[in-house]
Parts: sequence; structure tokens; C-alpha cells
Amino acid sequence: MNFIPYGKQLIEQDDIDAVVQTLQSDYLTTGPKVKEFEDALSEYCSATYCVAVSNGTAALHLASLVLLNKGDKVLTTPNSFLATSNSILYVGAQPVFVDIAEDGNIDLDLCEEALKKDASIKALYGVAFSGNMLKQEKLNHLKKSYGITILEDNAHAIGAVYNNVKAGSCVNSDMSIFSFHPVKHLTTAEGGAITTNSKELYEKLLVLRNHGMVKTTEMKPWEYEMRELGFNYRITDLQCALGVSQLKKLPSFIERRFEIVKKYDTAFKNTIVKPLYTFDGKSSYHLYVVQVDFTQLNITKVELFNILREKKIGIQLHYMPINKQPYYKNIGYGNEVTPNMDIYYEECFSLPMYPLLSDEEQDYVIKTLMDILNG
Ligand SMILES: Cc1ncc(COP(=O)(O)O)c(C=O)c1O
Repeated sequence: MNFIPYGKQLIEQDDIDAVVQTLQSDYLTTGPKVKEFEDALSEYCSATYCVAVSNGTAALHLASLVLLNKGDKVLTTPNSFLATSNSILYVGAQPVFVDIAEDGNIDLDLCEEALKKDASIKALYGVAFSGNMLKQEKLNHLKKSYGITILEDNAHAIGAVYNNVKAGSCVNSDMSIFSFHPVKHLTTAEGGAITTNSKELYEKLLVLRNHGMVKTTEMKPWEYEMRELGFNYRITDLQCALGVSQLKKLPSFIERRFEIVKKYDTAFKNTIVKPLYTFDGKSSYHLYVVQVDFTQLNITKVELFNILREKKIGIQLHYMPINKQPYYKNIGYGNEVTPNMDIYYEECFSLPMYPLLSDEEQDYVIKTLMDILNG
């Protein structure tokens, strides 16, 4: 049996053909495929505007440049990839880490408590962890009652729906971002996107993606003006050709993920392996996260990881608490009271989850895991 990773892309002949066609076209960098991909994404998630960029981290950076000011306090989660809170630091703003709820997402009730206590908090950066969207009625309430800026990091959640609100539609937020890294639902190799319903924010993002450069019809033909300090966060036509092709197949990718979830859920029913939450049609399941109380077992989590990896099963951990990373500790973080995150970190791991995972491979993962845990 080949090594079974926790996540993996699915590239088919039509994807390859789409990239080759673009390779043979006049445009390799910014050409017609970028706009085609952006339009297809906006339509898919029912957002008015979309800006595709070089990766999800660049998406977060550009969003933060537009949404935040230096010194702004931003509520965010310790349970994410580093990029979420790093993007707050990039622009000189200040992450405020809030504990997670039972589903692994930032606890929005605790966010409200923080907002009540501290009127200087300006924004909330939540992550739809593992594909499970933030509770939209609560986001709506926080936005309306406290006037905060909200960014949804939907890097895990393209295709997710919550009470008819689609991930990326920004119905209850100012912006949303996606990542198209190969372990995500659809890939452009590296790649990311920002969606918003605000024309003003959209136009700012476009300028910042391309060095802060502006060209207008009043200028001389060769002229451009740099009015802000921007970046080269452009995505290529090659990547977008792949993205357009992959996006067409996203519904089938997600359907296959649901099948995998159902099989895992059934296998772990009434066992020591507790799924982080149970499939209810909302999550788009980027990850299948489980929790195990290792204090009840004769095996440690390190031992479990090592044995499974020897047996060619690449389980992973999502995530180490960001606020306890050395860099964050050096700048004064790490002592936040986050009892849920602490327990979660002790107990969690992610099992292989990707459309190409075969039934046989999944059976092998389940059997191997249960045999080890049952001693
Ligand atoms: C929640 C979250 N946000 C942001 C990112 C950054 O995306 P990228 O790797 O495309 O820069 C990731 C990537 O893993 C992520 O999981």
C-alpha cells in the first residue's frame, strides 16, 4: 500500500488539458483566465466581487491592509494555520486570541463578552475550521450590535453552506478568503482568493495586488502612478486555468468527501474516537478531525502518530495553538486562558480525507487506528 496522506489533490486529464491550452496561449501571467476564474468563484459563492491572488496568505495580507489600521485589536482563534493571525501582525494590528467552542471554531459567545468589556476592539477574524462555517446568525448579531469588521477565513470551507448562506458570500462579513493549496478542496497549486460585496474594498484590493499601481485614461500611454505601497500578489493564467477546471468538479469532490465522512462516522460510533462534530450538511469537510482521550489509554499521542506513520498512514494535527508559538510568546502572547483549546490540542488529530481516498484505503485507516487504540 502507498503512503496515505491526510489530504491530496485530484488532478484529471481535463485539468491537464486546460493548463496545456493556456501554456500554448499568449498569456502565462495575467490574462483572460484570471477574470474567468474570479467570475466563476463569485458566481459559485454568490459574492459580488472576487480577487484571485498568489496564495491564501497573500489573500489574508491584502484583506488586512484594506480592513485594518495599525494598532487595531482583532479577535481571532488560536486554532488555525499561522497565516490567519500573522496577517493581522503584518499590518501592525493586534491579534486578541479567544478560546474555541466545541466545534473547533472561535467561540463567538466569548467574542461577544470581549466586545462588551472592550469597546476598542475593531474586528473579528474567524476561521471556518475544517469546513464548518461560523454561525452566521451570531456573526450578524456581532456586526450589527458592535459595528465590528468581520473577515471569514474560509480557506477550509469553499462549498460549505450554513442556513442557506454560502461560504464566501460575505452575507454577514466584510470579506472572506480562500486557499487553493493542493490539500484544499480545489487546487491551483499555490493560490488564493478574496470575496467581498463592497465595490470600494474590491477596487482597493485590485490596486494592492499589483504594486499599488494605477493607470487611468487621462494619463499618457506609458504612465502609471503608484499611490500606495502594494505587492505583487498576482496569480497566473496557468493557475487560473487549473482553477476554472477544478471548480467545475467541486460539487463532486465535496460529495465524495461526504461519503468518506459518513463511513468514518459510522465506524467510530460508540467508540473512544469522537468526531469533532457530526455531519449535518453544513461543513464541506476539508478535514476529518477526531478527538481521543489519551488519558484513558496505554498509548500516547506521539506513539500513535509514530505507529500510524510507520504503517503508511499520514495522520496530522490541526492545529498547534498559534498564540503559544515561540514568535508569539516573544511578543507577549501565550498566557491567554483557553481551556477548550488546551484540551482539544491534547486530544485532536486529523484522519485522511480527500476525494481520491479509496474505500479500501479508508477501511485500512479505520481498522489500523482501532486496532492500535484497542491495544
Ligand atoms: C485556515 C487557513 N488560513 C490561511 C491559510 C493560508 O493559505 P495558503 O497556504 O494558500 O497561503 C491556510 C493554509 O493552510 C489555512 O489553513
